[in-house]
Amino acid sequence: MQHLLTGFEFNQDEYLEILDTASDMKKDPKKYKHVLEGRSGAIMFEKPSLRTRTTFELAFFRLGGHGVYLDLQNGDLGNRESIADYAQNLSRWVDCLVGRVYAQSTLEELAKYGTVPVINALSDLYHPAQAMADYLTMREHLSKLAGLKVAYVGDGNNVTNSLFVAGAILGANVTCYCPENCAPDLAVYIKANEIAKKNGCILNVENDISKLKDVDVLYTDTWVSMGDNTPLEKVKKKYMPYQVNDDLVKQSGAQIVMHCLPAHRGYEITDEVMDGDKSVVFDEAENRLHIHMAVLAKLINA
Ligand code: CP
Ligand code: NVA
Repeated sequence: MQHLLTGFEFNQDEYLEILDTASDMKKDPKKYKHVLEGRSGAIMFEKPSLRTRTTFELAFFRLGGHGVYLDLQNGDLGNRESIADYAQNLSRWVDCLVGRVYAQSTLEELAKYGTVPVINALSDLYHPAQAMADYLTMREHLSKLAGLKVAYVGDGNNVTNSLFVAGAILGANVTCYCPENCAPDLAVYIKANEIAKKNGCILNVENDISKLKDVDVLYTDTWVSMGDNTPLEKVKKKYMPYQVNDDLVKQSGAQIVMHCLPAHRGYEITDEVMDGDKSVVFDEAENRLHIHMAVLAKLINA
């Protein structure tokens, strides 16, 4: 049984297999409509979601299965009953647990006590299915992944960590440009960098935004992630040099601009860029559906 907890679980061949399956599902969804017939999953959210919730539910539906949405009417996971009991109950009914959680450890515990695959739908540390959809989007627009130059600009967070992990495995060069003390997780970087070295690509963290140039992809995300209640206005001054605006896009040389969304227009990205001709943000959002279908099919049918 395989989980998707961090993104480190799969090798390059498996990543490419997931991306290829997702592309084919996008082209010919009808071919796959019985793949998960009679199968189901619990889709649990400790935090809000538009894209992830909608696309996981629809992914089950399009594959002929059923996704049961569990909100937190009973409080945070582990409050009404232990996470171990929660996982053991659900494992008797469903074929997969999809979870968006505050702490990565919650997912690890679900995987430890459950007997079905667990999929990370975002945690404090990772957003692995997002990164898969992002690399699928890059491949669609730029026709390659190995050797691609990706610049992530803004706050080093869960999305950045996952872009490092998947980038390293797929052979893409990823640099995170961020203010001091806003770097992505060091342990994740070190582990991903070992893989990057083997695959001949480079992962980097850089504070000096004036060094940003000659990249293929410019990517940004919110300056304040869910679970942190700091108002954006409070951090604006620190992050403003990293705002993705027309000048930064020109300076970077990027062919496409990406954002996992939700966007905070006027903060990490301007209207001009988000609505401009290099923006592929809604392709990314669409690809969440196709990737989730491919991931569910692979893990549930493994
Ligand atoms: N990108 C993403 O995960 O969006 P949601 O928070 O709306 O699911
Ligand atoms: N870094 C963001 C991603 C949202 C999809 C967050 O965790 O809130």
